[in-house]
Amino acid sequence: MSNRTMDEAARVFADPKAYADDVRLHEALTHLRANNPVAWVDNRPYRPFWAITKHADIMAIERANELFISEPRPLLATAAADDLAKEQLAAGTGLRTLIHMDDPHHRKIRAIGSDWFRPKAMRDLKVRVDELAKRYVDKMRDIGPECDFVTDIAVHFPLYVIMSLLGLPEDDYGRMHKLTQEMFGGDDDEYKRDGGSLEDQLAVLLDFFAYFSKLTASRREHPTDDLASAIANGLIDGEPLSDVDTVSYYVIVASAGHDTTKDAISGGLLALIENPAELERLQRDPGLMGTAVEEMVRWTTPVKEFMRTATEDTTVRGVDIAKGESVYLAYVSGNRDEEVFTDPFRFDVSRDPNKHVAFGYGIHFCLGAALARMEMNSLFTELLSRLESIELAGTPELQATTFVGGLKHLPIRYSLK
Ligand code: HEM
Repeated sequence: MSNRTMDEAARVFADPKAYADDVRLHEALTHLRANNPVAWVDNRPYRPFWAITKHADIMAIERANELFISEPRPLLATAAADDLAKEQLAAGTGLRTLIHMDDPHHRKIRAIGSDWFRPKAMRDLKVRVDELAKRYVDKMRDIGPECDFVTDIAVHFPLYVIMSLLGLPEDDYGRMHKLTQEMFGGDDDEYKRDGGSLEDQLAVLLDFFAYFSKLTASRREHPTDDLASAIANGLIDGEPLSDVDTVSYYVIVASAGHDTTKDAISGGLLALIENPAELERLQRDPGLMGTAVEEMVRWTTPVKEFMRTATEDTTVRGVDIAKGESVYLAYVSGNRDEEVFTDPFRFDVSRDPNKHVAFGYGIHFCLGAALARMEMNSLFTELLSRLESIELAGTPELQATTFVGGLKHLPIRYSLK
């Protein structure tokens, strides 16, 4: 069976503004899970795709990583942006990150950075991350009693952590933050570069390229003890990584490594403010921090989607998918699936089990998941142990996006010990 009639609800996937409107988004996703869980979406300027909204189907597709591969369409972009990306790659200045790749190449490239994110590395980093968490909560106290939690705190803490892991100088943090915002924020008027045209997006990519090409050259000449050196000097089958692979590795670590975590931290704090009984529970019992962090990640789902493309004719939930057609994995929907989560629209700091798909699943499972969890754990442990009161001081504002995003502004009033 293959129903290619467009369900109006499925238009949310091809509309960046839908992600800035939680109510509209979840109404549409709830409808699709119940009535059209493998929905055809044909909405210009995007090429058509199948939207997958059930948790079990998202996991099954990610598990079948030979039947559903990341090339050539790992994420939703307009047809023109997809074409430009291909041209850039052919010209040697495009991006081919881990999320664009399939095994066996993917596995080899992933292995170059993976030691830096293993539990042992995380344990070694914990003291430093705790120190930074304290520094940012001190900053919050100093600038209080009001702040914009996103722009004053949530952006800076994970940016600082990932930049120091990479070994980049502090003077460059601001630049990396702006480039990341422009890359993920191409659909948002406040974030996009200039007019947000394809040329403007290309200029962002070229800036990343120029910055990281210099970094590669310098780390190859003078290796240091940081992740940037590990990437620059990594070998695949005895050969150094190509320029595209090196720059792409930096770009994914630098960008995925902080924007996503900022979204989970700020959305997590908003959920606590909107659910004061949960905030109080967590303050009374800090032993719940592990499950609370997991619930914040499920609740916010900062990465909205990834895509896969079928290598053979196949079916998902009885719907025919032809070889070469793409499926859109709607993580936001999977994380509210009534068949998996009891009372999915309740924010529950003790939720257990919590098998969310916010970090994906399978061979592409988020490389930095343990780091993100540790950062959130440190920040919320420090913050909640010192927090005496907190309330909204204005209206929270969500980013328009189809890919990565969360709160742009979270005005709060608070008192801290
Ligand atoms: C709350 C924060 C984060 C969320 C929600 C998140 C989410 C994701 C998701 C959904 C994927 C794709 C998984 C898949 O296709 O199955 C991914 C991949 C990835 N993430 Fe994260 N991430 C977060 C933090 C981080 C951090 C801190 C880093 C640090 C470097 C990071 C680095 C990566 C990398 C390198 C990949 C590609 C892995 C691969 O393709 O093999 N992420 N992340």
